[in-house]
Amino acid sequence: MKVAAPREIFNGENRVALTPESAALLQKMGHECLVQSGAGEMARFSDQDYKNSGVKVVKSAASLWKEADVIIKVRAPNATEVQKFSKGQILISFVWPAENKTILEKLKSKGVTCLAMDMVPRISRAQKMDALSSMANIAGYRAVIEAGNNFGRFFTGQITAAGKVPPAKILVIGAGVAGLAAIGAAQSMGAIVRAFDVRPEVAEQIESMGAEFLFLDFDEHASGEGGYAAPSSPEFREKQLECFRKQAEDVDIVITTALIPGRDAPKLWLADMVDSMKAGSVIIDLAAEKGGNCEKTVIDKKIETKNGVTIVGYTDFPSQMATQASVLYANNIRHMLDDLTPDKNGVVKVNMEDDVIRGATITHEGKLTFPPPPPKVKAIAKTTVREQPGEAPETKESLEAKKFRKSGIQQIVLLALGGLAMVLIGAYAPPSFMQHFIVFVLACFIGFQVIWNVSHALHTPLMAITNAISGIIILGALLQINTGGFLVEVLAGISVLIATINIVGGFMVTRRMLSMFQKS
Ligand code: NAI
Repeated sequence: MKVAAPREIFNGENRVALTPESAALLQKMGHECLVQSGAGEMARFSDQDYKNSGVKVVKSAASLWKEADVIIKVRAPNATEVQKFSKGQILISFVWPAENKTILEKLKSKGVTCLAMDMVPRISRAQKMDALSSMANIAGYRAVIEAGNNFGRFFTGQITAAGKVPPAKILVIGAGVAGLAAIGAAQSMGAIVRAFDVRPEVAEQIESMGAEFLFLDFDEHASGEGGYAAPSSPEFREKQLECFRKQAEDVDIVITTALIPGRDAPKLWLADMVDSMKAGSVIIDLAAEKGGNCEKTVIDKKIETKNGVTIVGYTDFPSQMATQASVLYANNIRHMLDDLTPDKNGVVKVNMEDDVIRGATITHEGKLTFPPPPPKVKAIAKTTVREQPGEAPETKESLEAKKFRKSGIQQIVLLALGGLAMVLIGAYAPPSFMQHFIVFVLACFIGFQVIWNVSHALHTPLMAITNAISGIIILGALLQINTGGFLVEVLAGISVLIATINIVGGFMVTRRMLSMFQKS
């Protein structure tokens, strides 16, 4: 199919959805790539770069839309762009369907199949397509650079002949993707970093990065579905504000990233906190687009308060690092198209049975498919039971107790059936067979219980370290391989082959995972 990237027309948008590198990989999937002339200019990809990668450079947006089967974009299409679509075309872009209802309706009535990159569910399998995380990562990093640019001192502490320089103290509020990226960048520049989040499970991540997690002495967990937070109670908020008030007098830089999807940003850095900060302090409010976490933030502006605090409310940090952002975003789109092209023959199939594709598809075959049903696979985070309007509150304990009772009954039935099968087999099989058979059944049972109880997100690292088991299998198979029986030899050969594949694969996955943490 013809995959085409137009020039972004949103004012100040420098990113592009196709890079020469991603185009080369899309062509390997059997797709033809097109780009509008000048589309990559602001991200430093020239028309010639695209041509060198086998991409057709098209002069106007009109002819690009006419030729394309799939349009890939960064920003949601505006009313003029939507007019250019024809029936059956596919759009892959950020869309924000909950806020862009009119655009959504128009796409539906035009018969466009639209996949919103902002709707990709946060499950481990979809991480390679998670464009929100890619962009938040850049925003977090850039927030620290911006803070440094506006802060009149070093981040790192120094003892020089001219005097002692204290390290800068940075507070990061919200330790999601952007927050963790900011913590990493600030930490590496030598600042003292503190962080707060309503989800207690991120404390470990914050501390493993060398930052200090600000614990609240309050018995409430606000972890929601899909790795996001749930709204906290007014009492919790008061406690949180009390903590921030104390921090305001001490810290030099505040980077706020707190957000719950589909809601306005919570106001966490109030006017009195800004007033109590030292002159020269800096606040970077990443949540500015959703109203800001700081009461004094002005969207898309940098202001300085009367007491000399700089507040930055820019909403285009990824676009300010257009080359990096385009590379990551184009890769996310390429991975999405990879999943949409199962046979790698250039034919796109929108498989609505696939959790990730279903979650991202917001219009399909003239129908509205937004909002999607919740994904079948749960995200990494713990779930909190929330009270629905008009429904009696069900405590987490009661749900867990029910689940436990149900699984207990199931296990008793399975054990009874298993025991019966053992008695029957034992009645006819020789004793030597029974001895091995019982060990085999117990090994299967324990292996299943161990793997099943591990979170989906951890399956890859788990599989990467199962080489010990594969080693035992190979050892067993080698002992059997020369016993004489043809069937035994074939089975032992197959075991060695499969276990070897597992070991080699395990090492390759481990290597890939380690290289993710290596600075090259
Ligand atoms: P995320 O959902 O991964 O992280 C948000 C974090 O805030 C979560 O860890 C959540 O637990 C926490 N949080 C929610 N309510 C809180 C509260 N009351 N107190 C403390 N923590 C709270 O989101 P992500 O992807 O890290 O994005 C963060 C922000 O950055 C979002 O507002 C996003 O729109 C913004 N962003 C801004 C950009 C810019 O150029 N300004 C670019 C990309 C993202």
